[in-house]
Amino acid sequence: MYLLGVDIGTSGTKTVLFDVEGNTIASALGEYPLYQPHIGWAEQDPEDWWKAVVDTIAQVIKSSGVNPKDIKGLGLSGQMHGMVLLDKEGNVLRSSIIWCDQRTQNECDQITEIIGREKLMEITANPALTGFTASKVMWVKNHQSDIFQKIDKILLPKDYIRYRLTGVFATEVSDASGTQFLDIPKRQWSSEVLNKLGISPDWLPKVYESHEVSGYISAEAARLTGLPQGTPVVGGGGDQAAGAVGNGIIKPGVISSTIGTSGVVFASMDQVKIDPKGRTQTFCHAVPNTWHVMGVTQAAGLSLQWMRNQFGGMEKELAGFMGVDPYELMDKEAEKAKPGCEGLIYLPYLMGERAPHLDPYARGVFFGLTARHGRCEMIRSVMEGVAYSLRDCLEIIRQMDVPVHEVRASGGGGKSPLWRQMMADVFQTPIAVTNSKEGPALGVALLAGIGTGVYKNAAEACDAAIKVVKVQNPIEDNIPVYEKYYEVYGGLYYALKDSYQKLADISR
Ligand code: XUL
Repeated sequence: MYLLGVDIGTSGTKTVLFDVEGNTIASALGEYPLYQPHIGWAEQDPEDWWKAVVDTIAQVIKSSGVNPKDIKGLGLSGQMHGMVLLDKEGNVLRSSIIWCDQRTQNECDQITEIIGREKLMEITANPALTGFTASKVMWVKNHQSDIFQKIDKILLPKDYIRYRLTGVFATEVSDASGTQFLDIPKRQWSSEVLNKLGISPDWLPKVYESHEVSGYISAEAARLTGLPQGTPVVGGGGDQAAGAVGNGIIKPGVISSTIGTSGVVFASMDQVKIDPKGRTQTFCHAVPNTWHVMGVTQAAGLSLQWMRNQFGGMEKELAGFMGVDPYELMDKEAEKAKPGCEGLIYLPYLMGERAPHLDPYARGVFFGLTARHGRCEMIRSVMEGVAYSLRDCLEIIRQMDVPVHEVRASGGGGKSPLWRQMMADVFQTPIAVTNSKEGPALGVALLAGIGTGVYKNAAEACDAAIKVVKVQNPIEDNIPVYEKYYEVYGGLYYALKDSYQKLADISR
């Protein structure tokens, strides 16, 4: 018996076939472009996603050698928040405006004005954000009224793919949470928000729980992919919720700290809790009757990647000779510097910031540089600055009274034992790692297993597939060192806030 997970990401679609113990049997990646017609705009062509999904499913089936009839079900995950508009015939009306597009600040102000900040927080659990779908639809309403008139359906990226695979219009609670049209406590579309924004409820698909079967592979999709017609497709999940399931983050107390391009601290909750300041996002989780909160730091892995690209020529060259990853060599150099880097502190705001400071104008900083500091300290301070920023996210979650007993590291940065140790020392909690490497794709494959009766529930699915393989404890001597520097770090943003704004005014 096998389960298929499809993750429609921003740079590409990853399709992975798993056995029921969560082992990867075969995987394939199909890439596609991101279009940026103006600064701050980000769009993709839904047809590119579809081609990548068809190709990767067909490749995985072929390379795995399994009998497609043994694939019990398919789960869809993907980039959240993207807006796909369809007309009455099911044709795509314009390219998709995706999650990282920043053109909609005016529409966010408009939504806040129409609904009221408090009401919006109460219903959608979040302030109006440029990344969310609602502001994108309002932008089309304000700027492309000819297209707005023709809207018959509004879908999220993975739900458009569901439509192409099954012919069904459906979504599920975790991804729907990121539209800002969902009543998060009730886990259903909010008629109040829709009415006030002039969005017809008929334009939105049916909302399922993430493990529920939403449709079946159509004859046409079967012909294109090689999957048997009638294979069940479950709700699935937005990439964050799906990635959490794929890491076993399904009950209060066990949280994840992920260092990918961005950094995300993610906790599951059995009730709706909201940060009144809107610094973290509260969404429905992919497990019934649970919700999740996440704090996002924009440039986590990106900060070290920037360091490698700009100053790591030597490491790249040497790594090439040695057949290792340049990041491993950078770790070795960072290990030579002392914890706290003798007062060198890095602020990771290379892409503005989302949590705890919602500030597009914030910028990266090396603070405390002296002639004694060298490249080892520079590298280490970048890693420490990211750990401080993740601690900021963790602190908001702690302030919300969300329990934190175990922190699981994941993402590319989570592979570094040194970075994990810094997180353990800075967070003052043990840091665990699991056997899971495929995050979102595994998460939705497990949801497909629940929906098709392979597992009873999420707990059973995660027990079958996900194991903690290593735990790193804080080093006692490092804790007070980091604690003092973290306090200085915390004050720097406020000291610089006005200067960031002035800088933006000059250099915009
Ligand atoms: C979640 C978010 C990203 C996107 C793209 O709020 O913005 O995780 O889903 O990966």
